[in-house]
Amino acid sequence: VIDRRAFLEGSLALAAAGALPACAGDDPPDPTPLPERPPIRIPPEWSGGAIVAETQTLEMKPDVPSVIWTLGGGAPAPTIRVRRGDAFSARLENRLADHTNIHWHGLTVPADMDGHPRDVAHPGDARMYTFPVLDRAGTYWYHPHAHQATAKQIYHGMAGFFLVEDDESLALPLPRGELDVPLLIQDKRFHEGEIEYAPVDADIAGGYLGDTAFVNGVPDPKLEVEQNVVRLRILNGSNARAFLLSITDGRSMFLIGTDGGLIDAPIPVTTLWVAPAERVEVLVDFSGDRLGTAVSLASRAFTVGSGGHQHGGSGGIIPGFVPQGGAFELLRFEIARPASVPLMVPASLVALPPIDPSVAVRTRPFVLEHRPMATVGRHTINGLVFDMERIDEEVPFGETEIWRIQSTDKAAIHPIHVHGGRFRVVSRTTAALPTDRGYKDTVLVFPEETVEILVRFDAYRGLYLFHCHTLEHEDDGMMLNINVS
Ligand code: C2O
Ligand code: CU
Ligand code: CU
Repeated sequence: VIDRRAFLEGSLALAAAGALPACAGDDPPDPTPLPERPPIRIPPEWSGGAIVAETQTLEMKPDVPSVIWTLGGGAPAPTIRVRRGDAFSARLENRLADHTNIHWHGLTVPADMDGHPRDVAHPGDARMYTFPVLDRAGTYWYHPHAHQATAKQIYHGMAGFFLVEDDESLALPLPRGELDVPLLIQDKRFHEGEIEYAPVDADIAGGYLGDTAFVNGVPDPKLEVEQNVVRLRILNGSNARAFLLSITDGRSMFLIGTDGGLIDAPIPVTTLWVAPAERVEVLVDFSGDRLGTAVSLASRAFTVGSGGHQHGGSGGIIPGFVPQGGAFELLRFEIARPASVPLMVPASLVALPPIDPSVAVRTRPFVLEHRPMATVGRHTINGLVFDMERIDEEVPFGETEIWRIQSTDKAAIHPIHVHGGRFRVVSRTTAALPTDRGYKDTVLVFPEETVEILVRFDAYRGLYLFHCHTLEHEDDGMMLNINVS
């Protein structure tokens, strides 16, 4: 019942804008000049101390100042870089007119540091976050998690990278510095120069979709690269849009990392799903590309599900609306200079424990449901709509469980996220995805699919969350309280 074909036609137009044929010979013709693109922004590094939540004016589209909401300046917010074992601390100062907090997505932190919606800073207040960095080297992120305000706040710009390194990751011959590029991809709608977040009822079904893809806050940007191997740390920070990544000339990308860090060996892939909140790390090899040529990172057209409601929404009446599965060109790589120090795609990476479901002591079912006729809580898990004060699942500390996530939704995808650590993917009813191999904290559940994950809480006790990371679903109540005791 699930159709996730990638339409090649959808990517041909993009290919035309990308790679030029390689030309052997002494005197290759000059490449056709490419239309100008704005350079990508690389978010600055956080320097410690306070993280101020406030509004700011930023040129999201060139020469068009827009109001954004930020955590520490800019959109993306500053990149936080730590080593495993560090003691992390930051003080959130809320200068917004709305309550807010910070969730450290993917990190294993004490329950009262996790940004549960009961723990917010009201306007004018502050909140201190301190925790030891326990997690593997990887690409994590931070964003607000305030009750029924997460979608709006992330959409307006509040999100940044949280990058962890460890001795193992630093010992690998992976691209570093300018060759290690964090890319936050988000689709947005604009109205009269301002970011427009105005979901109507129909947008709740498939999630709020934008018409323009921004990479690090820049629409259709370019990145000048060396003739070398480049590492891309890709975070889908969209509210609802999934991307099916590919390179426009069809070359392989090498998957090296997932939500919870590096995998054991690079996996060559030509397409790669990245749903909201998921991260993928890939190496792309530009060492054979001619100087002056270009090729792009794009999202191919796709279809999922059979219900079709996600193609409606308010977008149905908006000119230029791009439905879920629409194609996007995301980032153009311009081959600008020879390699400084030539790198190769390594043959192996780090040790990755096997996925062993036989150690699980029980199976815990979660049924995802879309109830289009409901007036509140149109998305439920086990028939429940989120209640901040109700504990939904008691999970024993230190016990390994299989969580069986079954979607009865015929149309929309549900990227399901667990707070409090990481998990492994045991099985799914459609074909396994390459990202299922690694550590995950968010798993893409296709329409009418069942996915089993292997979960264990062994660092902290307390209240964590289980929810859909389509942010309109989350704010609609597609979230449960998990108590680890
Ligand atoms: Cu990134 Cu509970 O979220
Ligand atoms: Cu999270
Ligand atoms: Cu959902």
